[in-house]
Amino acid sequence: MMNLLVNVDHVGTLRNARQESFPDPIDAAARCEQAGADGIVFHLREDRRHIRERDVRLFQQTVDGKLDFELSTEEEVVSICCDVGPDLATLVPEQREEVTTEGGLDVVSAPARFDDVSAQLLDAGVDQVSLFLDPAPEQVEAAADTRANCVELHTGDFADAPTEAEQHEEAERLARAAELAHDAGLRVHAGHGLNYRNFSLFQETVPHVAEVSIGFAIIARAVLVGMDQAVRDMRATVKGY
Ligand code: PXP
Repeated sequence: MMNLLVNVDHVGTLRNARQESFPDPIDAAARCEQAGADGIVFHLREDRRHIRERDVRLFQQTVDGKLDFELSTEEEVVSICCDVGPDLATLVPEQREEVTTEGGLDVVSAPARFDDVSAQLLDAGVDQVSLFLDPAPEQVEAAADTRANCVELHTGDFADAPTEAEQHEEAERLARAAELAHDAGLRVHAGHGLNYRNFSLFQETVPHVAEVSIGFAIIARAVLVGMDQAVRDMRATVKGY
């Protein structure tokens, strides 16, 4: 059975937009777990635009299921991750100007860097270290030569494909990358842009996926499906009924 890990970064985005203490990503993570999520994902960015160090420490203490810490290879954040000791550390590329993670890591160009950081995380006691990759065979092969034991396949091009035919092509590309990673002994994860509409094609086409990481679609839906109750609660506060 495939694991569902929920990324709660955007709860932090909303909180920070008003420099408030709510909505709290810790509260959101607990509710995700109560609703059946197998784990929680967060990305501690260098600019702390959504998740803050305080959140990271509290996730460590309160998340019961799997904790996936997304991070760049920047020294400070690697050291925080080693200290926190999540179940899974996912290395991702990070650029200050980007709205969200754009593209996978270029492991081919700097294999030693990813190998070193993976080893550092494993030595610190992190069980699983994953490299976030475009579904390109050369990147999967380069990842297999590092000490990382998982890959997360970037599903963004699949999610953004403009036509059905292109979406099928992207799903096949992901399937080939998943086969390659699995044959190389890597655990296969996937994520980015997966949603309520595109998931079934993804699931029926791409083999060996042990877990998916989904954020935006769930947080966006929560805002809408929660609207009815939120207005009813405020109406009762304002009008008394
Ligand atoms: N996996 C990785 C490595 C990511 O960076 C993100 C985005 O934060 C996701 C999965 C989740 O993507 P989305 O928010 O589009 O579901």
